Amino acid sequence: MVEFIGKPSQERMEVFRGRNIIDISSLTRDEIETIMQTAAYYDKALTEKVRLYDMDGKIMASLFFEPSTRTRLSFESAMERLGGKVISLTESTTAQISSTSKGETLYDSIRVVNYYCDVIACRSPIEGARLEISRAATVPYINAGDGSGEHPTQALLDVYTIYKEKDGLDGLTYAICGDLKYGRAAHSFLEALAKFSVKKIILASPQELRMPAEYLAKLKDSNIEIEECYDLDYAVANAEVIYMTRVQRERFASMDDYLRNKDLFIMTPNHVDSFIGDAIILHPLPRLNEITLEVDDYPGAAYFRQAGNGLPVRMAVLALVTGSVK
Ligand code: NCD
Repeated sequence: MVEFIGKPSQERMEVFRGRNIIDISSLTRDEIETIMQTAAYYDKALTEKVRLYDMDGKIMASLFFEPSTRTRLSFESAMERLGGKVISLTESTTAQISSTSKGETLYDSIRVVNYYCDVIACRSPIEGARLEISRAATVPYINAGDGSGEHPTQALLDVYTIYKEKDGLDGLTYAICGDLKYGRAAHSFLEALAKFSVKKIILASPQELRMPAEYLAKLKDSNIEIEECYDLDYAVANAEVIYMTRVQRERFASMDDYLRNKDLFIMTPNHVDSFIGDAIILHPLPRLNEITLEVDDYPGAAYFRQAGNGLPVRMAVLALVTGSVK
């Protein structure tokens, strides 16, 4: 891995204090690297089992109005690992007990939650909710996924994983595969790649699930070569970092549309045999059938390690936006 030595300077960390993290576009490469360095610093502390108190006395509100396993648990674990505390609303408590079930707007809920915490991690099923939450939040708000919009901390942990597995992002060829239309992880990952000097990005999807134009537009000022295709075999045989995604059933207008697309892109050991050198496979998870279980034995299948990296990366984001890195 690229050696990040110690914590970033105070000056580099200070730019995060009080900030919302709603997408990747609003971060510079230098800022992404500050987050990476802070994550590496916490990663080392976790490995060495150092007890941390950086967020002692602070509270995170964990608001998940849509299902989540990795994102919610790693945010909450991150807060606990930093010595902070968590208050939470999940999708099920929302349905049963919170005022959202009485018809309270997200805007009003956030206006209230501001008083109870120092930082908010929030996931909403509504694309674009990040803007409304951002307007309502007076404490730093971290977007933990808004519908088929963005998922910036996922992209940050994806980038961190590539640093760890490949020694950096520049000069590599990437394939982003699967549901590029509705997949917010794919959107934010593409935005993240746009910040680096990557060589080429192959966008491989079923015809109906192409990357929306608004995300492609973020690459127009870069020198990155982009190739769109509908062919998984071609994409994975020509990339050093392969990003697989799930077809997002919950976002389709009709079940027929989903069924028509759900089994088109499935990675098997035959694909692995076609890889160049030591290509790595990433996936934000959950996996349905798009990567067969046999592929897990391939040493470059990095998706579980990737999920693990969510912890130090979210520790870094929480500590930076609250100005807590000690
Ligand atoms: C992703 C999400 O929620 O967008 N999952 C995650 O956060 N790790 C990807 C997905 O649900 O397919």
